[in-house]
Amino acid sequence: MITKPIYLDHQATTPLDERVLEAMLPYLTSQYGNPSSPHAYGRVAARAVRTARRHVVDLVGAKNELEIVFTSGATEANHLAIVGAALAARPSGGHIITTAIEHKAVLAACRRLVEHHGYTLTRVGVDRHGRVHPADIAAALAPNTVLVSVMHANNEIGTLQRLAAIAEITAPRGILLHTDAAQSAGYGLLDVAGLGVDLASLSAHKLHGPKGIGALYLRGGIGITAQQTGGGQERGLRAGTPNVPAIVGFGAAARLITSDAVPPPRRLRFLRDRLQNGLLAAIPGTSVNGHPHRRLPGNLSLTLPGIEAVELLDRVPDIAASTGSACNTGSGEPSHVLTAIGLTRAQARATLRLSLGRTTTDNDIVQTIDLVTRAAHSNIHCSSPTEPPDPPQGRLCGNPIAR
Ligand SMILES: Cc1ncc(COP(=O)(O)O)c(C=O)c1O
Repeated sequence: MITKPIYLDHQATTPLDERVLEAMLPYLTSQYGNPSSPHAYGRVAARAVRTARRHVVDLVGAKNELEIVFTSGATEANHLAIVGAALAARPSGGHIITTAIEHKAVLAACRRLVEHHGYTLTRVGVDRHGRVHPADIAAALAPNTVLVSVMHANNEIGTLQRLAAIAEITAPRGILLHTDAAQSAGYGLLDVAGLGVDLASLSAHKLHGPKGIGALYLRGGIGITAQQTGGGQERGLRAGTPNVPAIVGFGAAARLITSDAVPPPRRLRFLRDRLQNGLLAAIPGTSVNGHPHRRLPGNLSLTLPGIEAVELLDRVPDIAASTGSACNTGSGEPSHVLTAIGLTRAQARATLRLSLGRTTTDNDIVQTIDLVTRAAHSNIHCSSPTEPPDPPQGRLCGNPIAR
């Protein structure tokens, strides 16, 4: 019997590791000092923040602590990186490049530059596996390009990008390369030096740390314009009293990864492949989205044959997962990621994202194959996945589906 739903939504957020909670607790209780205060309490807090920053440095392969700016998460880090770096390089009228499959925080930051600062924007497309071709980035360059932003790993289909090859194009031209690494850092996949990125956005809650904390990696020597001012914290790049318990938690979560105190990604890959193979065999006509090999080990995005993913999940409350087309705005639009890789609206509606994590067990996989298969065979049909795009009244998240 299943006592609580099987959690397969680790790309949305991860459970807080108990060791992280333990590290945080003193800073939520007895060690409440403000790290800017010049007394014993303040010094204890400042030391804890310094240690955490060191752990984040190690996680991403930065050179030193000056290259890490704590933020409230990857959303804020994306805005600080994109708007801050572009405006510092060229206060108005430059050109930026991003991709068609970025997180909405990146797209919104780019839009801000276009709408409020006279920038032009090129959104480069991807292939059917969700990969950006470096040659397409090269072709999109303009004489006034100041910044290229390409996510490291996609949050829906898990595809990893060839950042090192893109850096070979941007670096010699003095163009900054930013990456949204919210999804990849938890696997120890982000090595900023090896990949040649200048700025990278991180989020603690994607790697078993607390919510509401993240960071921007900012290569030494790069100037950015602060987006939140009014205090000298984070060297003037992000004003506001630091969230000490959350920063300590982020540091502890990073340290667990760099000290190999967590299961290796190959275990996740093994479980994911078992789940993938089990469902492909049990539900004929199902296809896998994302790159076959170059994708996050815990990601499984499946398009089911003519089956409404939202309704399927409604029928299996014992699984906590997400529809591939989940929209967080309630706009009813299909996922821009799934349409960018060539899926029709109906296929996007039939897409399920199962994302595994550290706590996923063999038994979770066996049960999920059984539950999803039974639900899929219980006749939940949407319009044929091969038919042309639907009119936009279809419901993709939240409300009952018009069948
Ligand atoms: C790729 C990506 N970027 C950014 C974010 C936003 O991160 P945060 O929740 O820390 O603001 C997420 C999380 O949903 C994400 O998956």
